[in-house]
Amino acid sequence: MKVTTVINLPYEQKRDFYLQLSDIKKAAHLLQTGGLVAFPTETVYGLGADAINEAAVRKIFQAKGRPSDNPLIVHLAKLEQIEQWVSEVPSVARQLMERFSPGPITYVMKHRGDFATSVTAGLTTVGIRIPDHPLALALLELADVPIAAPSANRSGRPSPTSASHVEEDLNGKIDLILDGGSTSVGVESTVIDVTGQTPVLLRPGGITLEDLQSVVGDVLVDTALQEQPRSPGMKYRHYAPKGEMWLVTGEDMVKKIQTISREKMKSGYRVGILTTSENEDKYTGAQIVVCGSRTSPESVAKGLYDVLRKFDLMDIDFILSETFPLSGLYLSVMNRLNKAAEGKTIS
Ligand code: TXA
Ligand code: MG
Repeated sequence: MKVTTVINLPYEQKRDFYLQLSDIKKAAHLLQTGGLVAFPTETVYGLGADAINEAAVRKIFQAKGRPSDNPLIVHLAKLEQIEQWVSEVPSVARQLMERFSPGPITYVMKHRGDFATSVTAGLTTVGIRIPDHPLALALLELADVPIAAPSANRSGRPSPTSASHVEEDLNGKIDLILDGGSTSVGVESTVIDVTGQTPVLLRPGGITLEDLQSVVGDVLVDTALQEQPRSPGMKYRHYAPKGEMWLVTGEDMVKKIQTISREKMKSGYRVGILTTSENEDKYTGAQIVVCGSRTSPESVAKGLYDVLRKFDLMDIDFILSETFPLSGLYLSVMNRLNKAAEGKTIS
């Protein structure tokens, strides 16, 4: 199996892609015939397969090295298609869909039993989303089958926000990558369970908790999100760079990072620092990687996974990361940083 990058469509440019329609058709055909295609969404790149085809879906788990008890998100082209696959669209879901879909949000609802067992990991519910990306939507429409797609990374690695990230992780293991340039949101979709009376936030993502609350009022936050990850708990090993990573909090965050990085460099470590444009000049000696600007949570989210991958490319063995306030899009950023650092925090 050879990976061919057939399309180069920088998302920001919103360029017309009719010229490459044949490439999207090829990808759609691969999906219809049980193949694996990586494609861009507004959040991260997904690794897609026909959600009805058990053999095809199993290949996703194989390529990613993903544990089989972790269910996949099903992607559809249009909101109107959802009813066909779930037993009920609860009214709270309708409200959220009206406001946020297509977009970076996944609704967990009761399915009708049509999906491959591996998609739902045997659960009675399924996560469904309509991505907000022209290439993804064109592909979904042409394939005309529901597409199961987890993030297109090797399990445990940071999610891919560019075609080259996908290539780094899955080259030789999948049939095709559609290259749509860098993704715009940079963290995965918000996952919300809408099966109960009050919606439950299962994973913070591109749509913020505040956004959800503004539409439906009460939103419960899953208890697993409030726990500090146990270190070095296998269950939480996710997005983790190869180097040991620590999050640094508190008012004297910069000072602490300066002191600890100096000590670690003295002991012979190759130290990396995850910072933002405001603070980059405050550190010396270590490998400084700038992840957006503190005044723009969107910029930090967009750059996050690329930065985590950079530390590996730079062979960093000790990483100190700045931290962010636990609200808005930063709640999602901090959720991913916590997982990457396996909860290790200096406060
Ligand atoms: O932005 C995204 O959501 C990306 C793009 C490709 O769409 N996809 C993605 O998929 O992040 P994945 O597989 O990496 O994450 C799926 C998340 C997991 O946390 C999984 O446990 C949860 O959704 N999930 C899926 N189905 C579920 C269900 N029935 N009940 C509870 N959680 C579910
Ligand atoms: Mg993932």
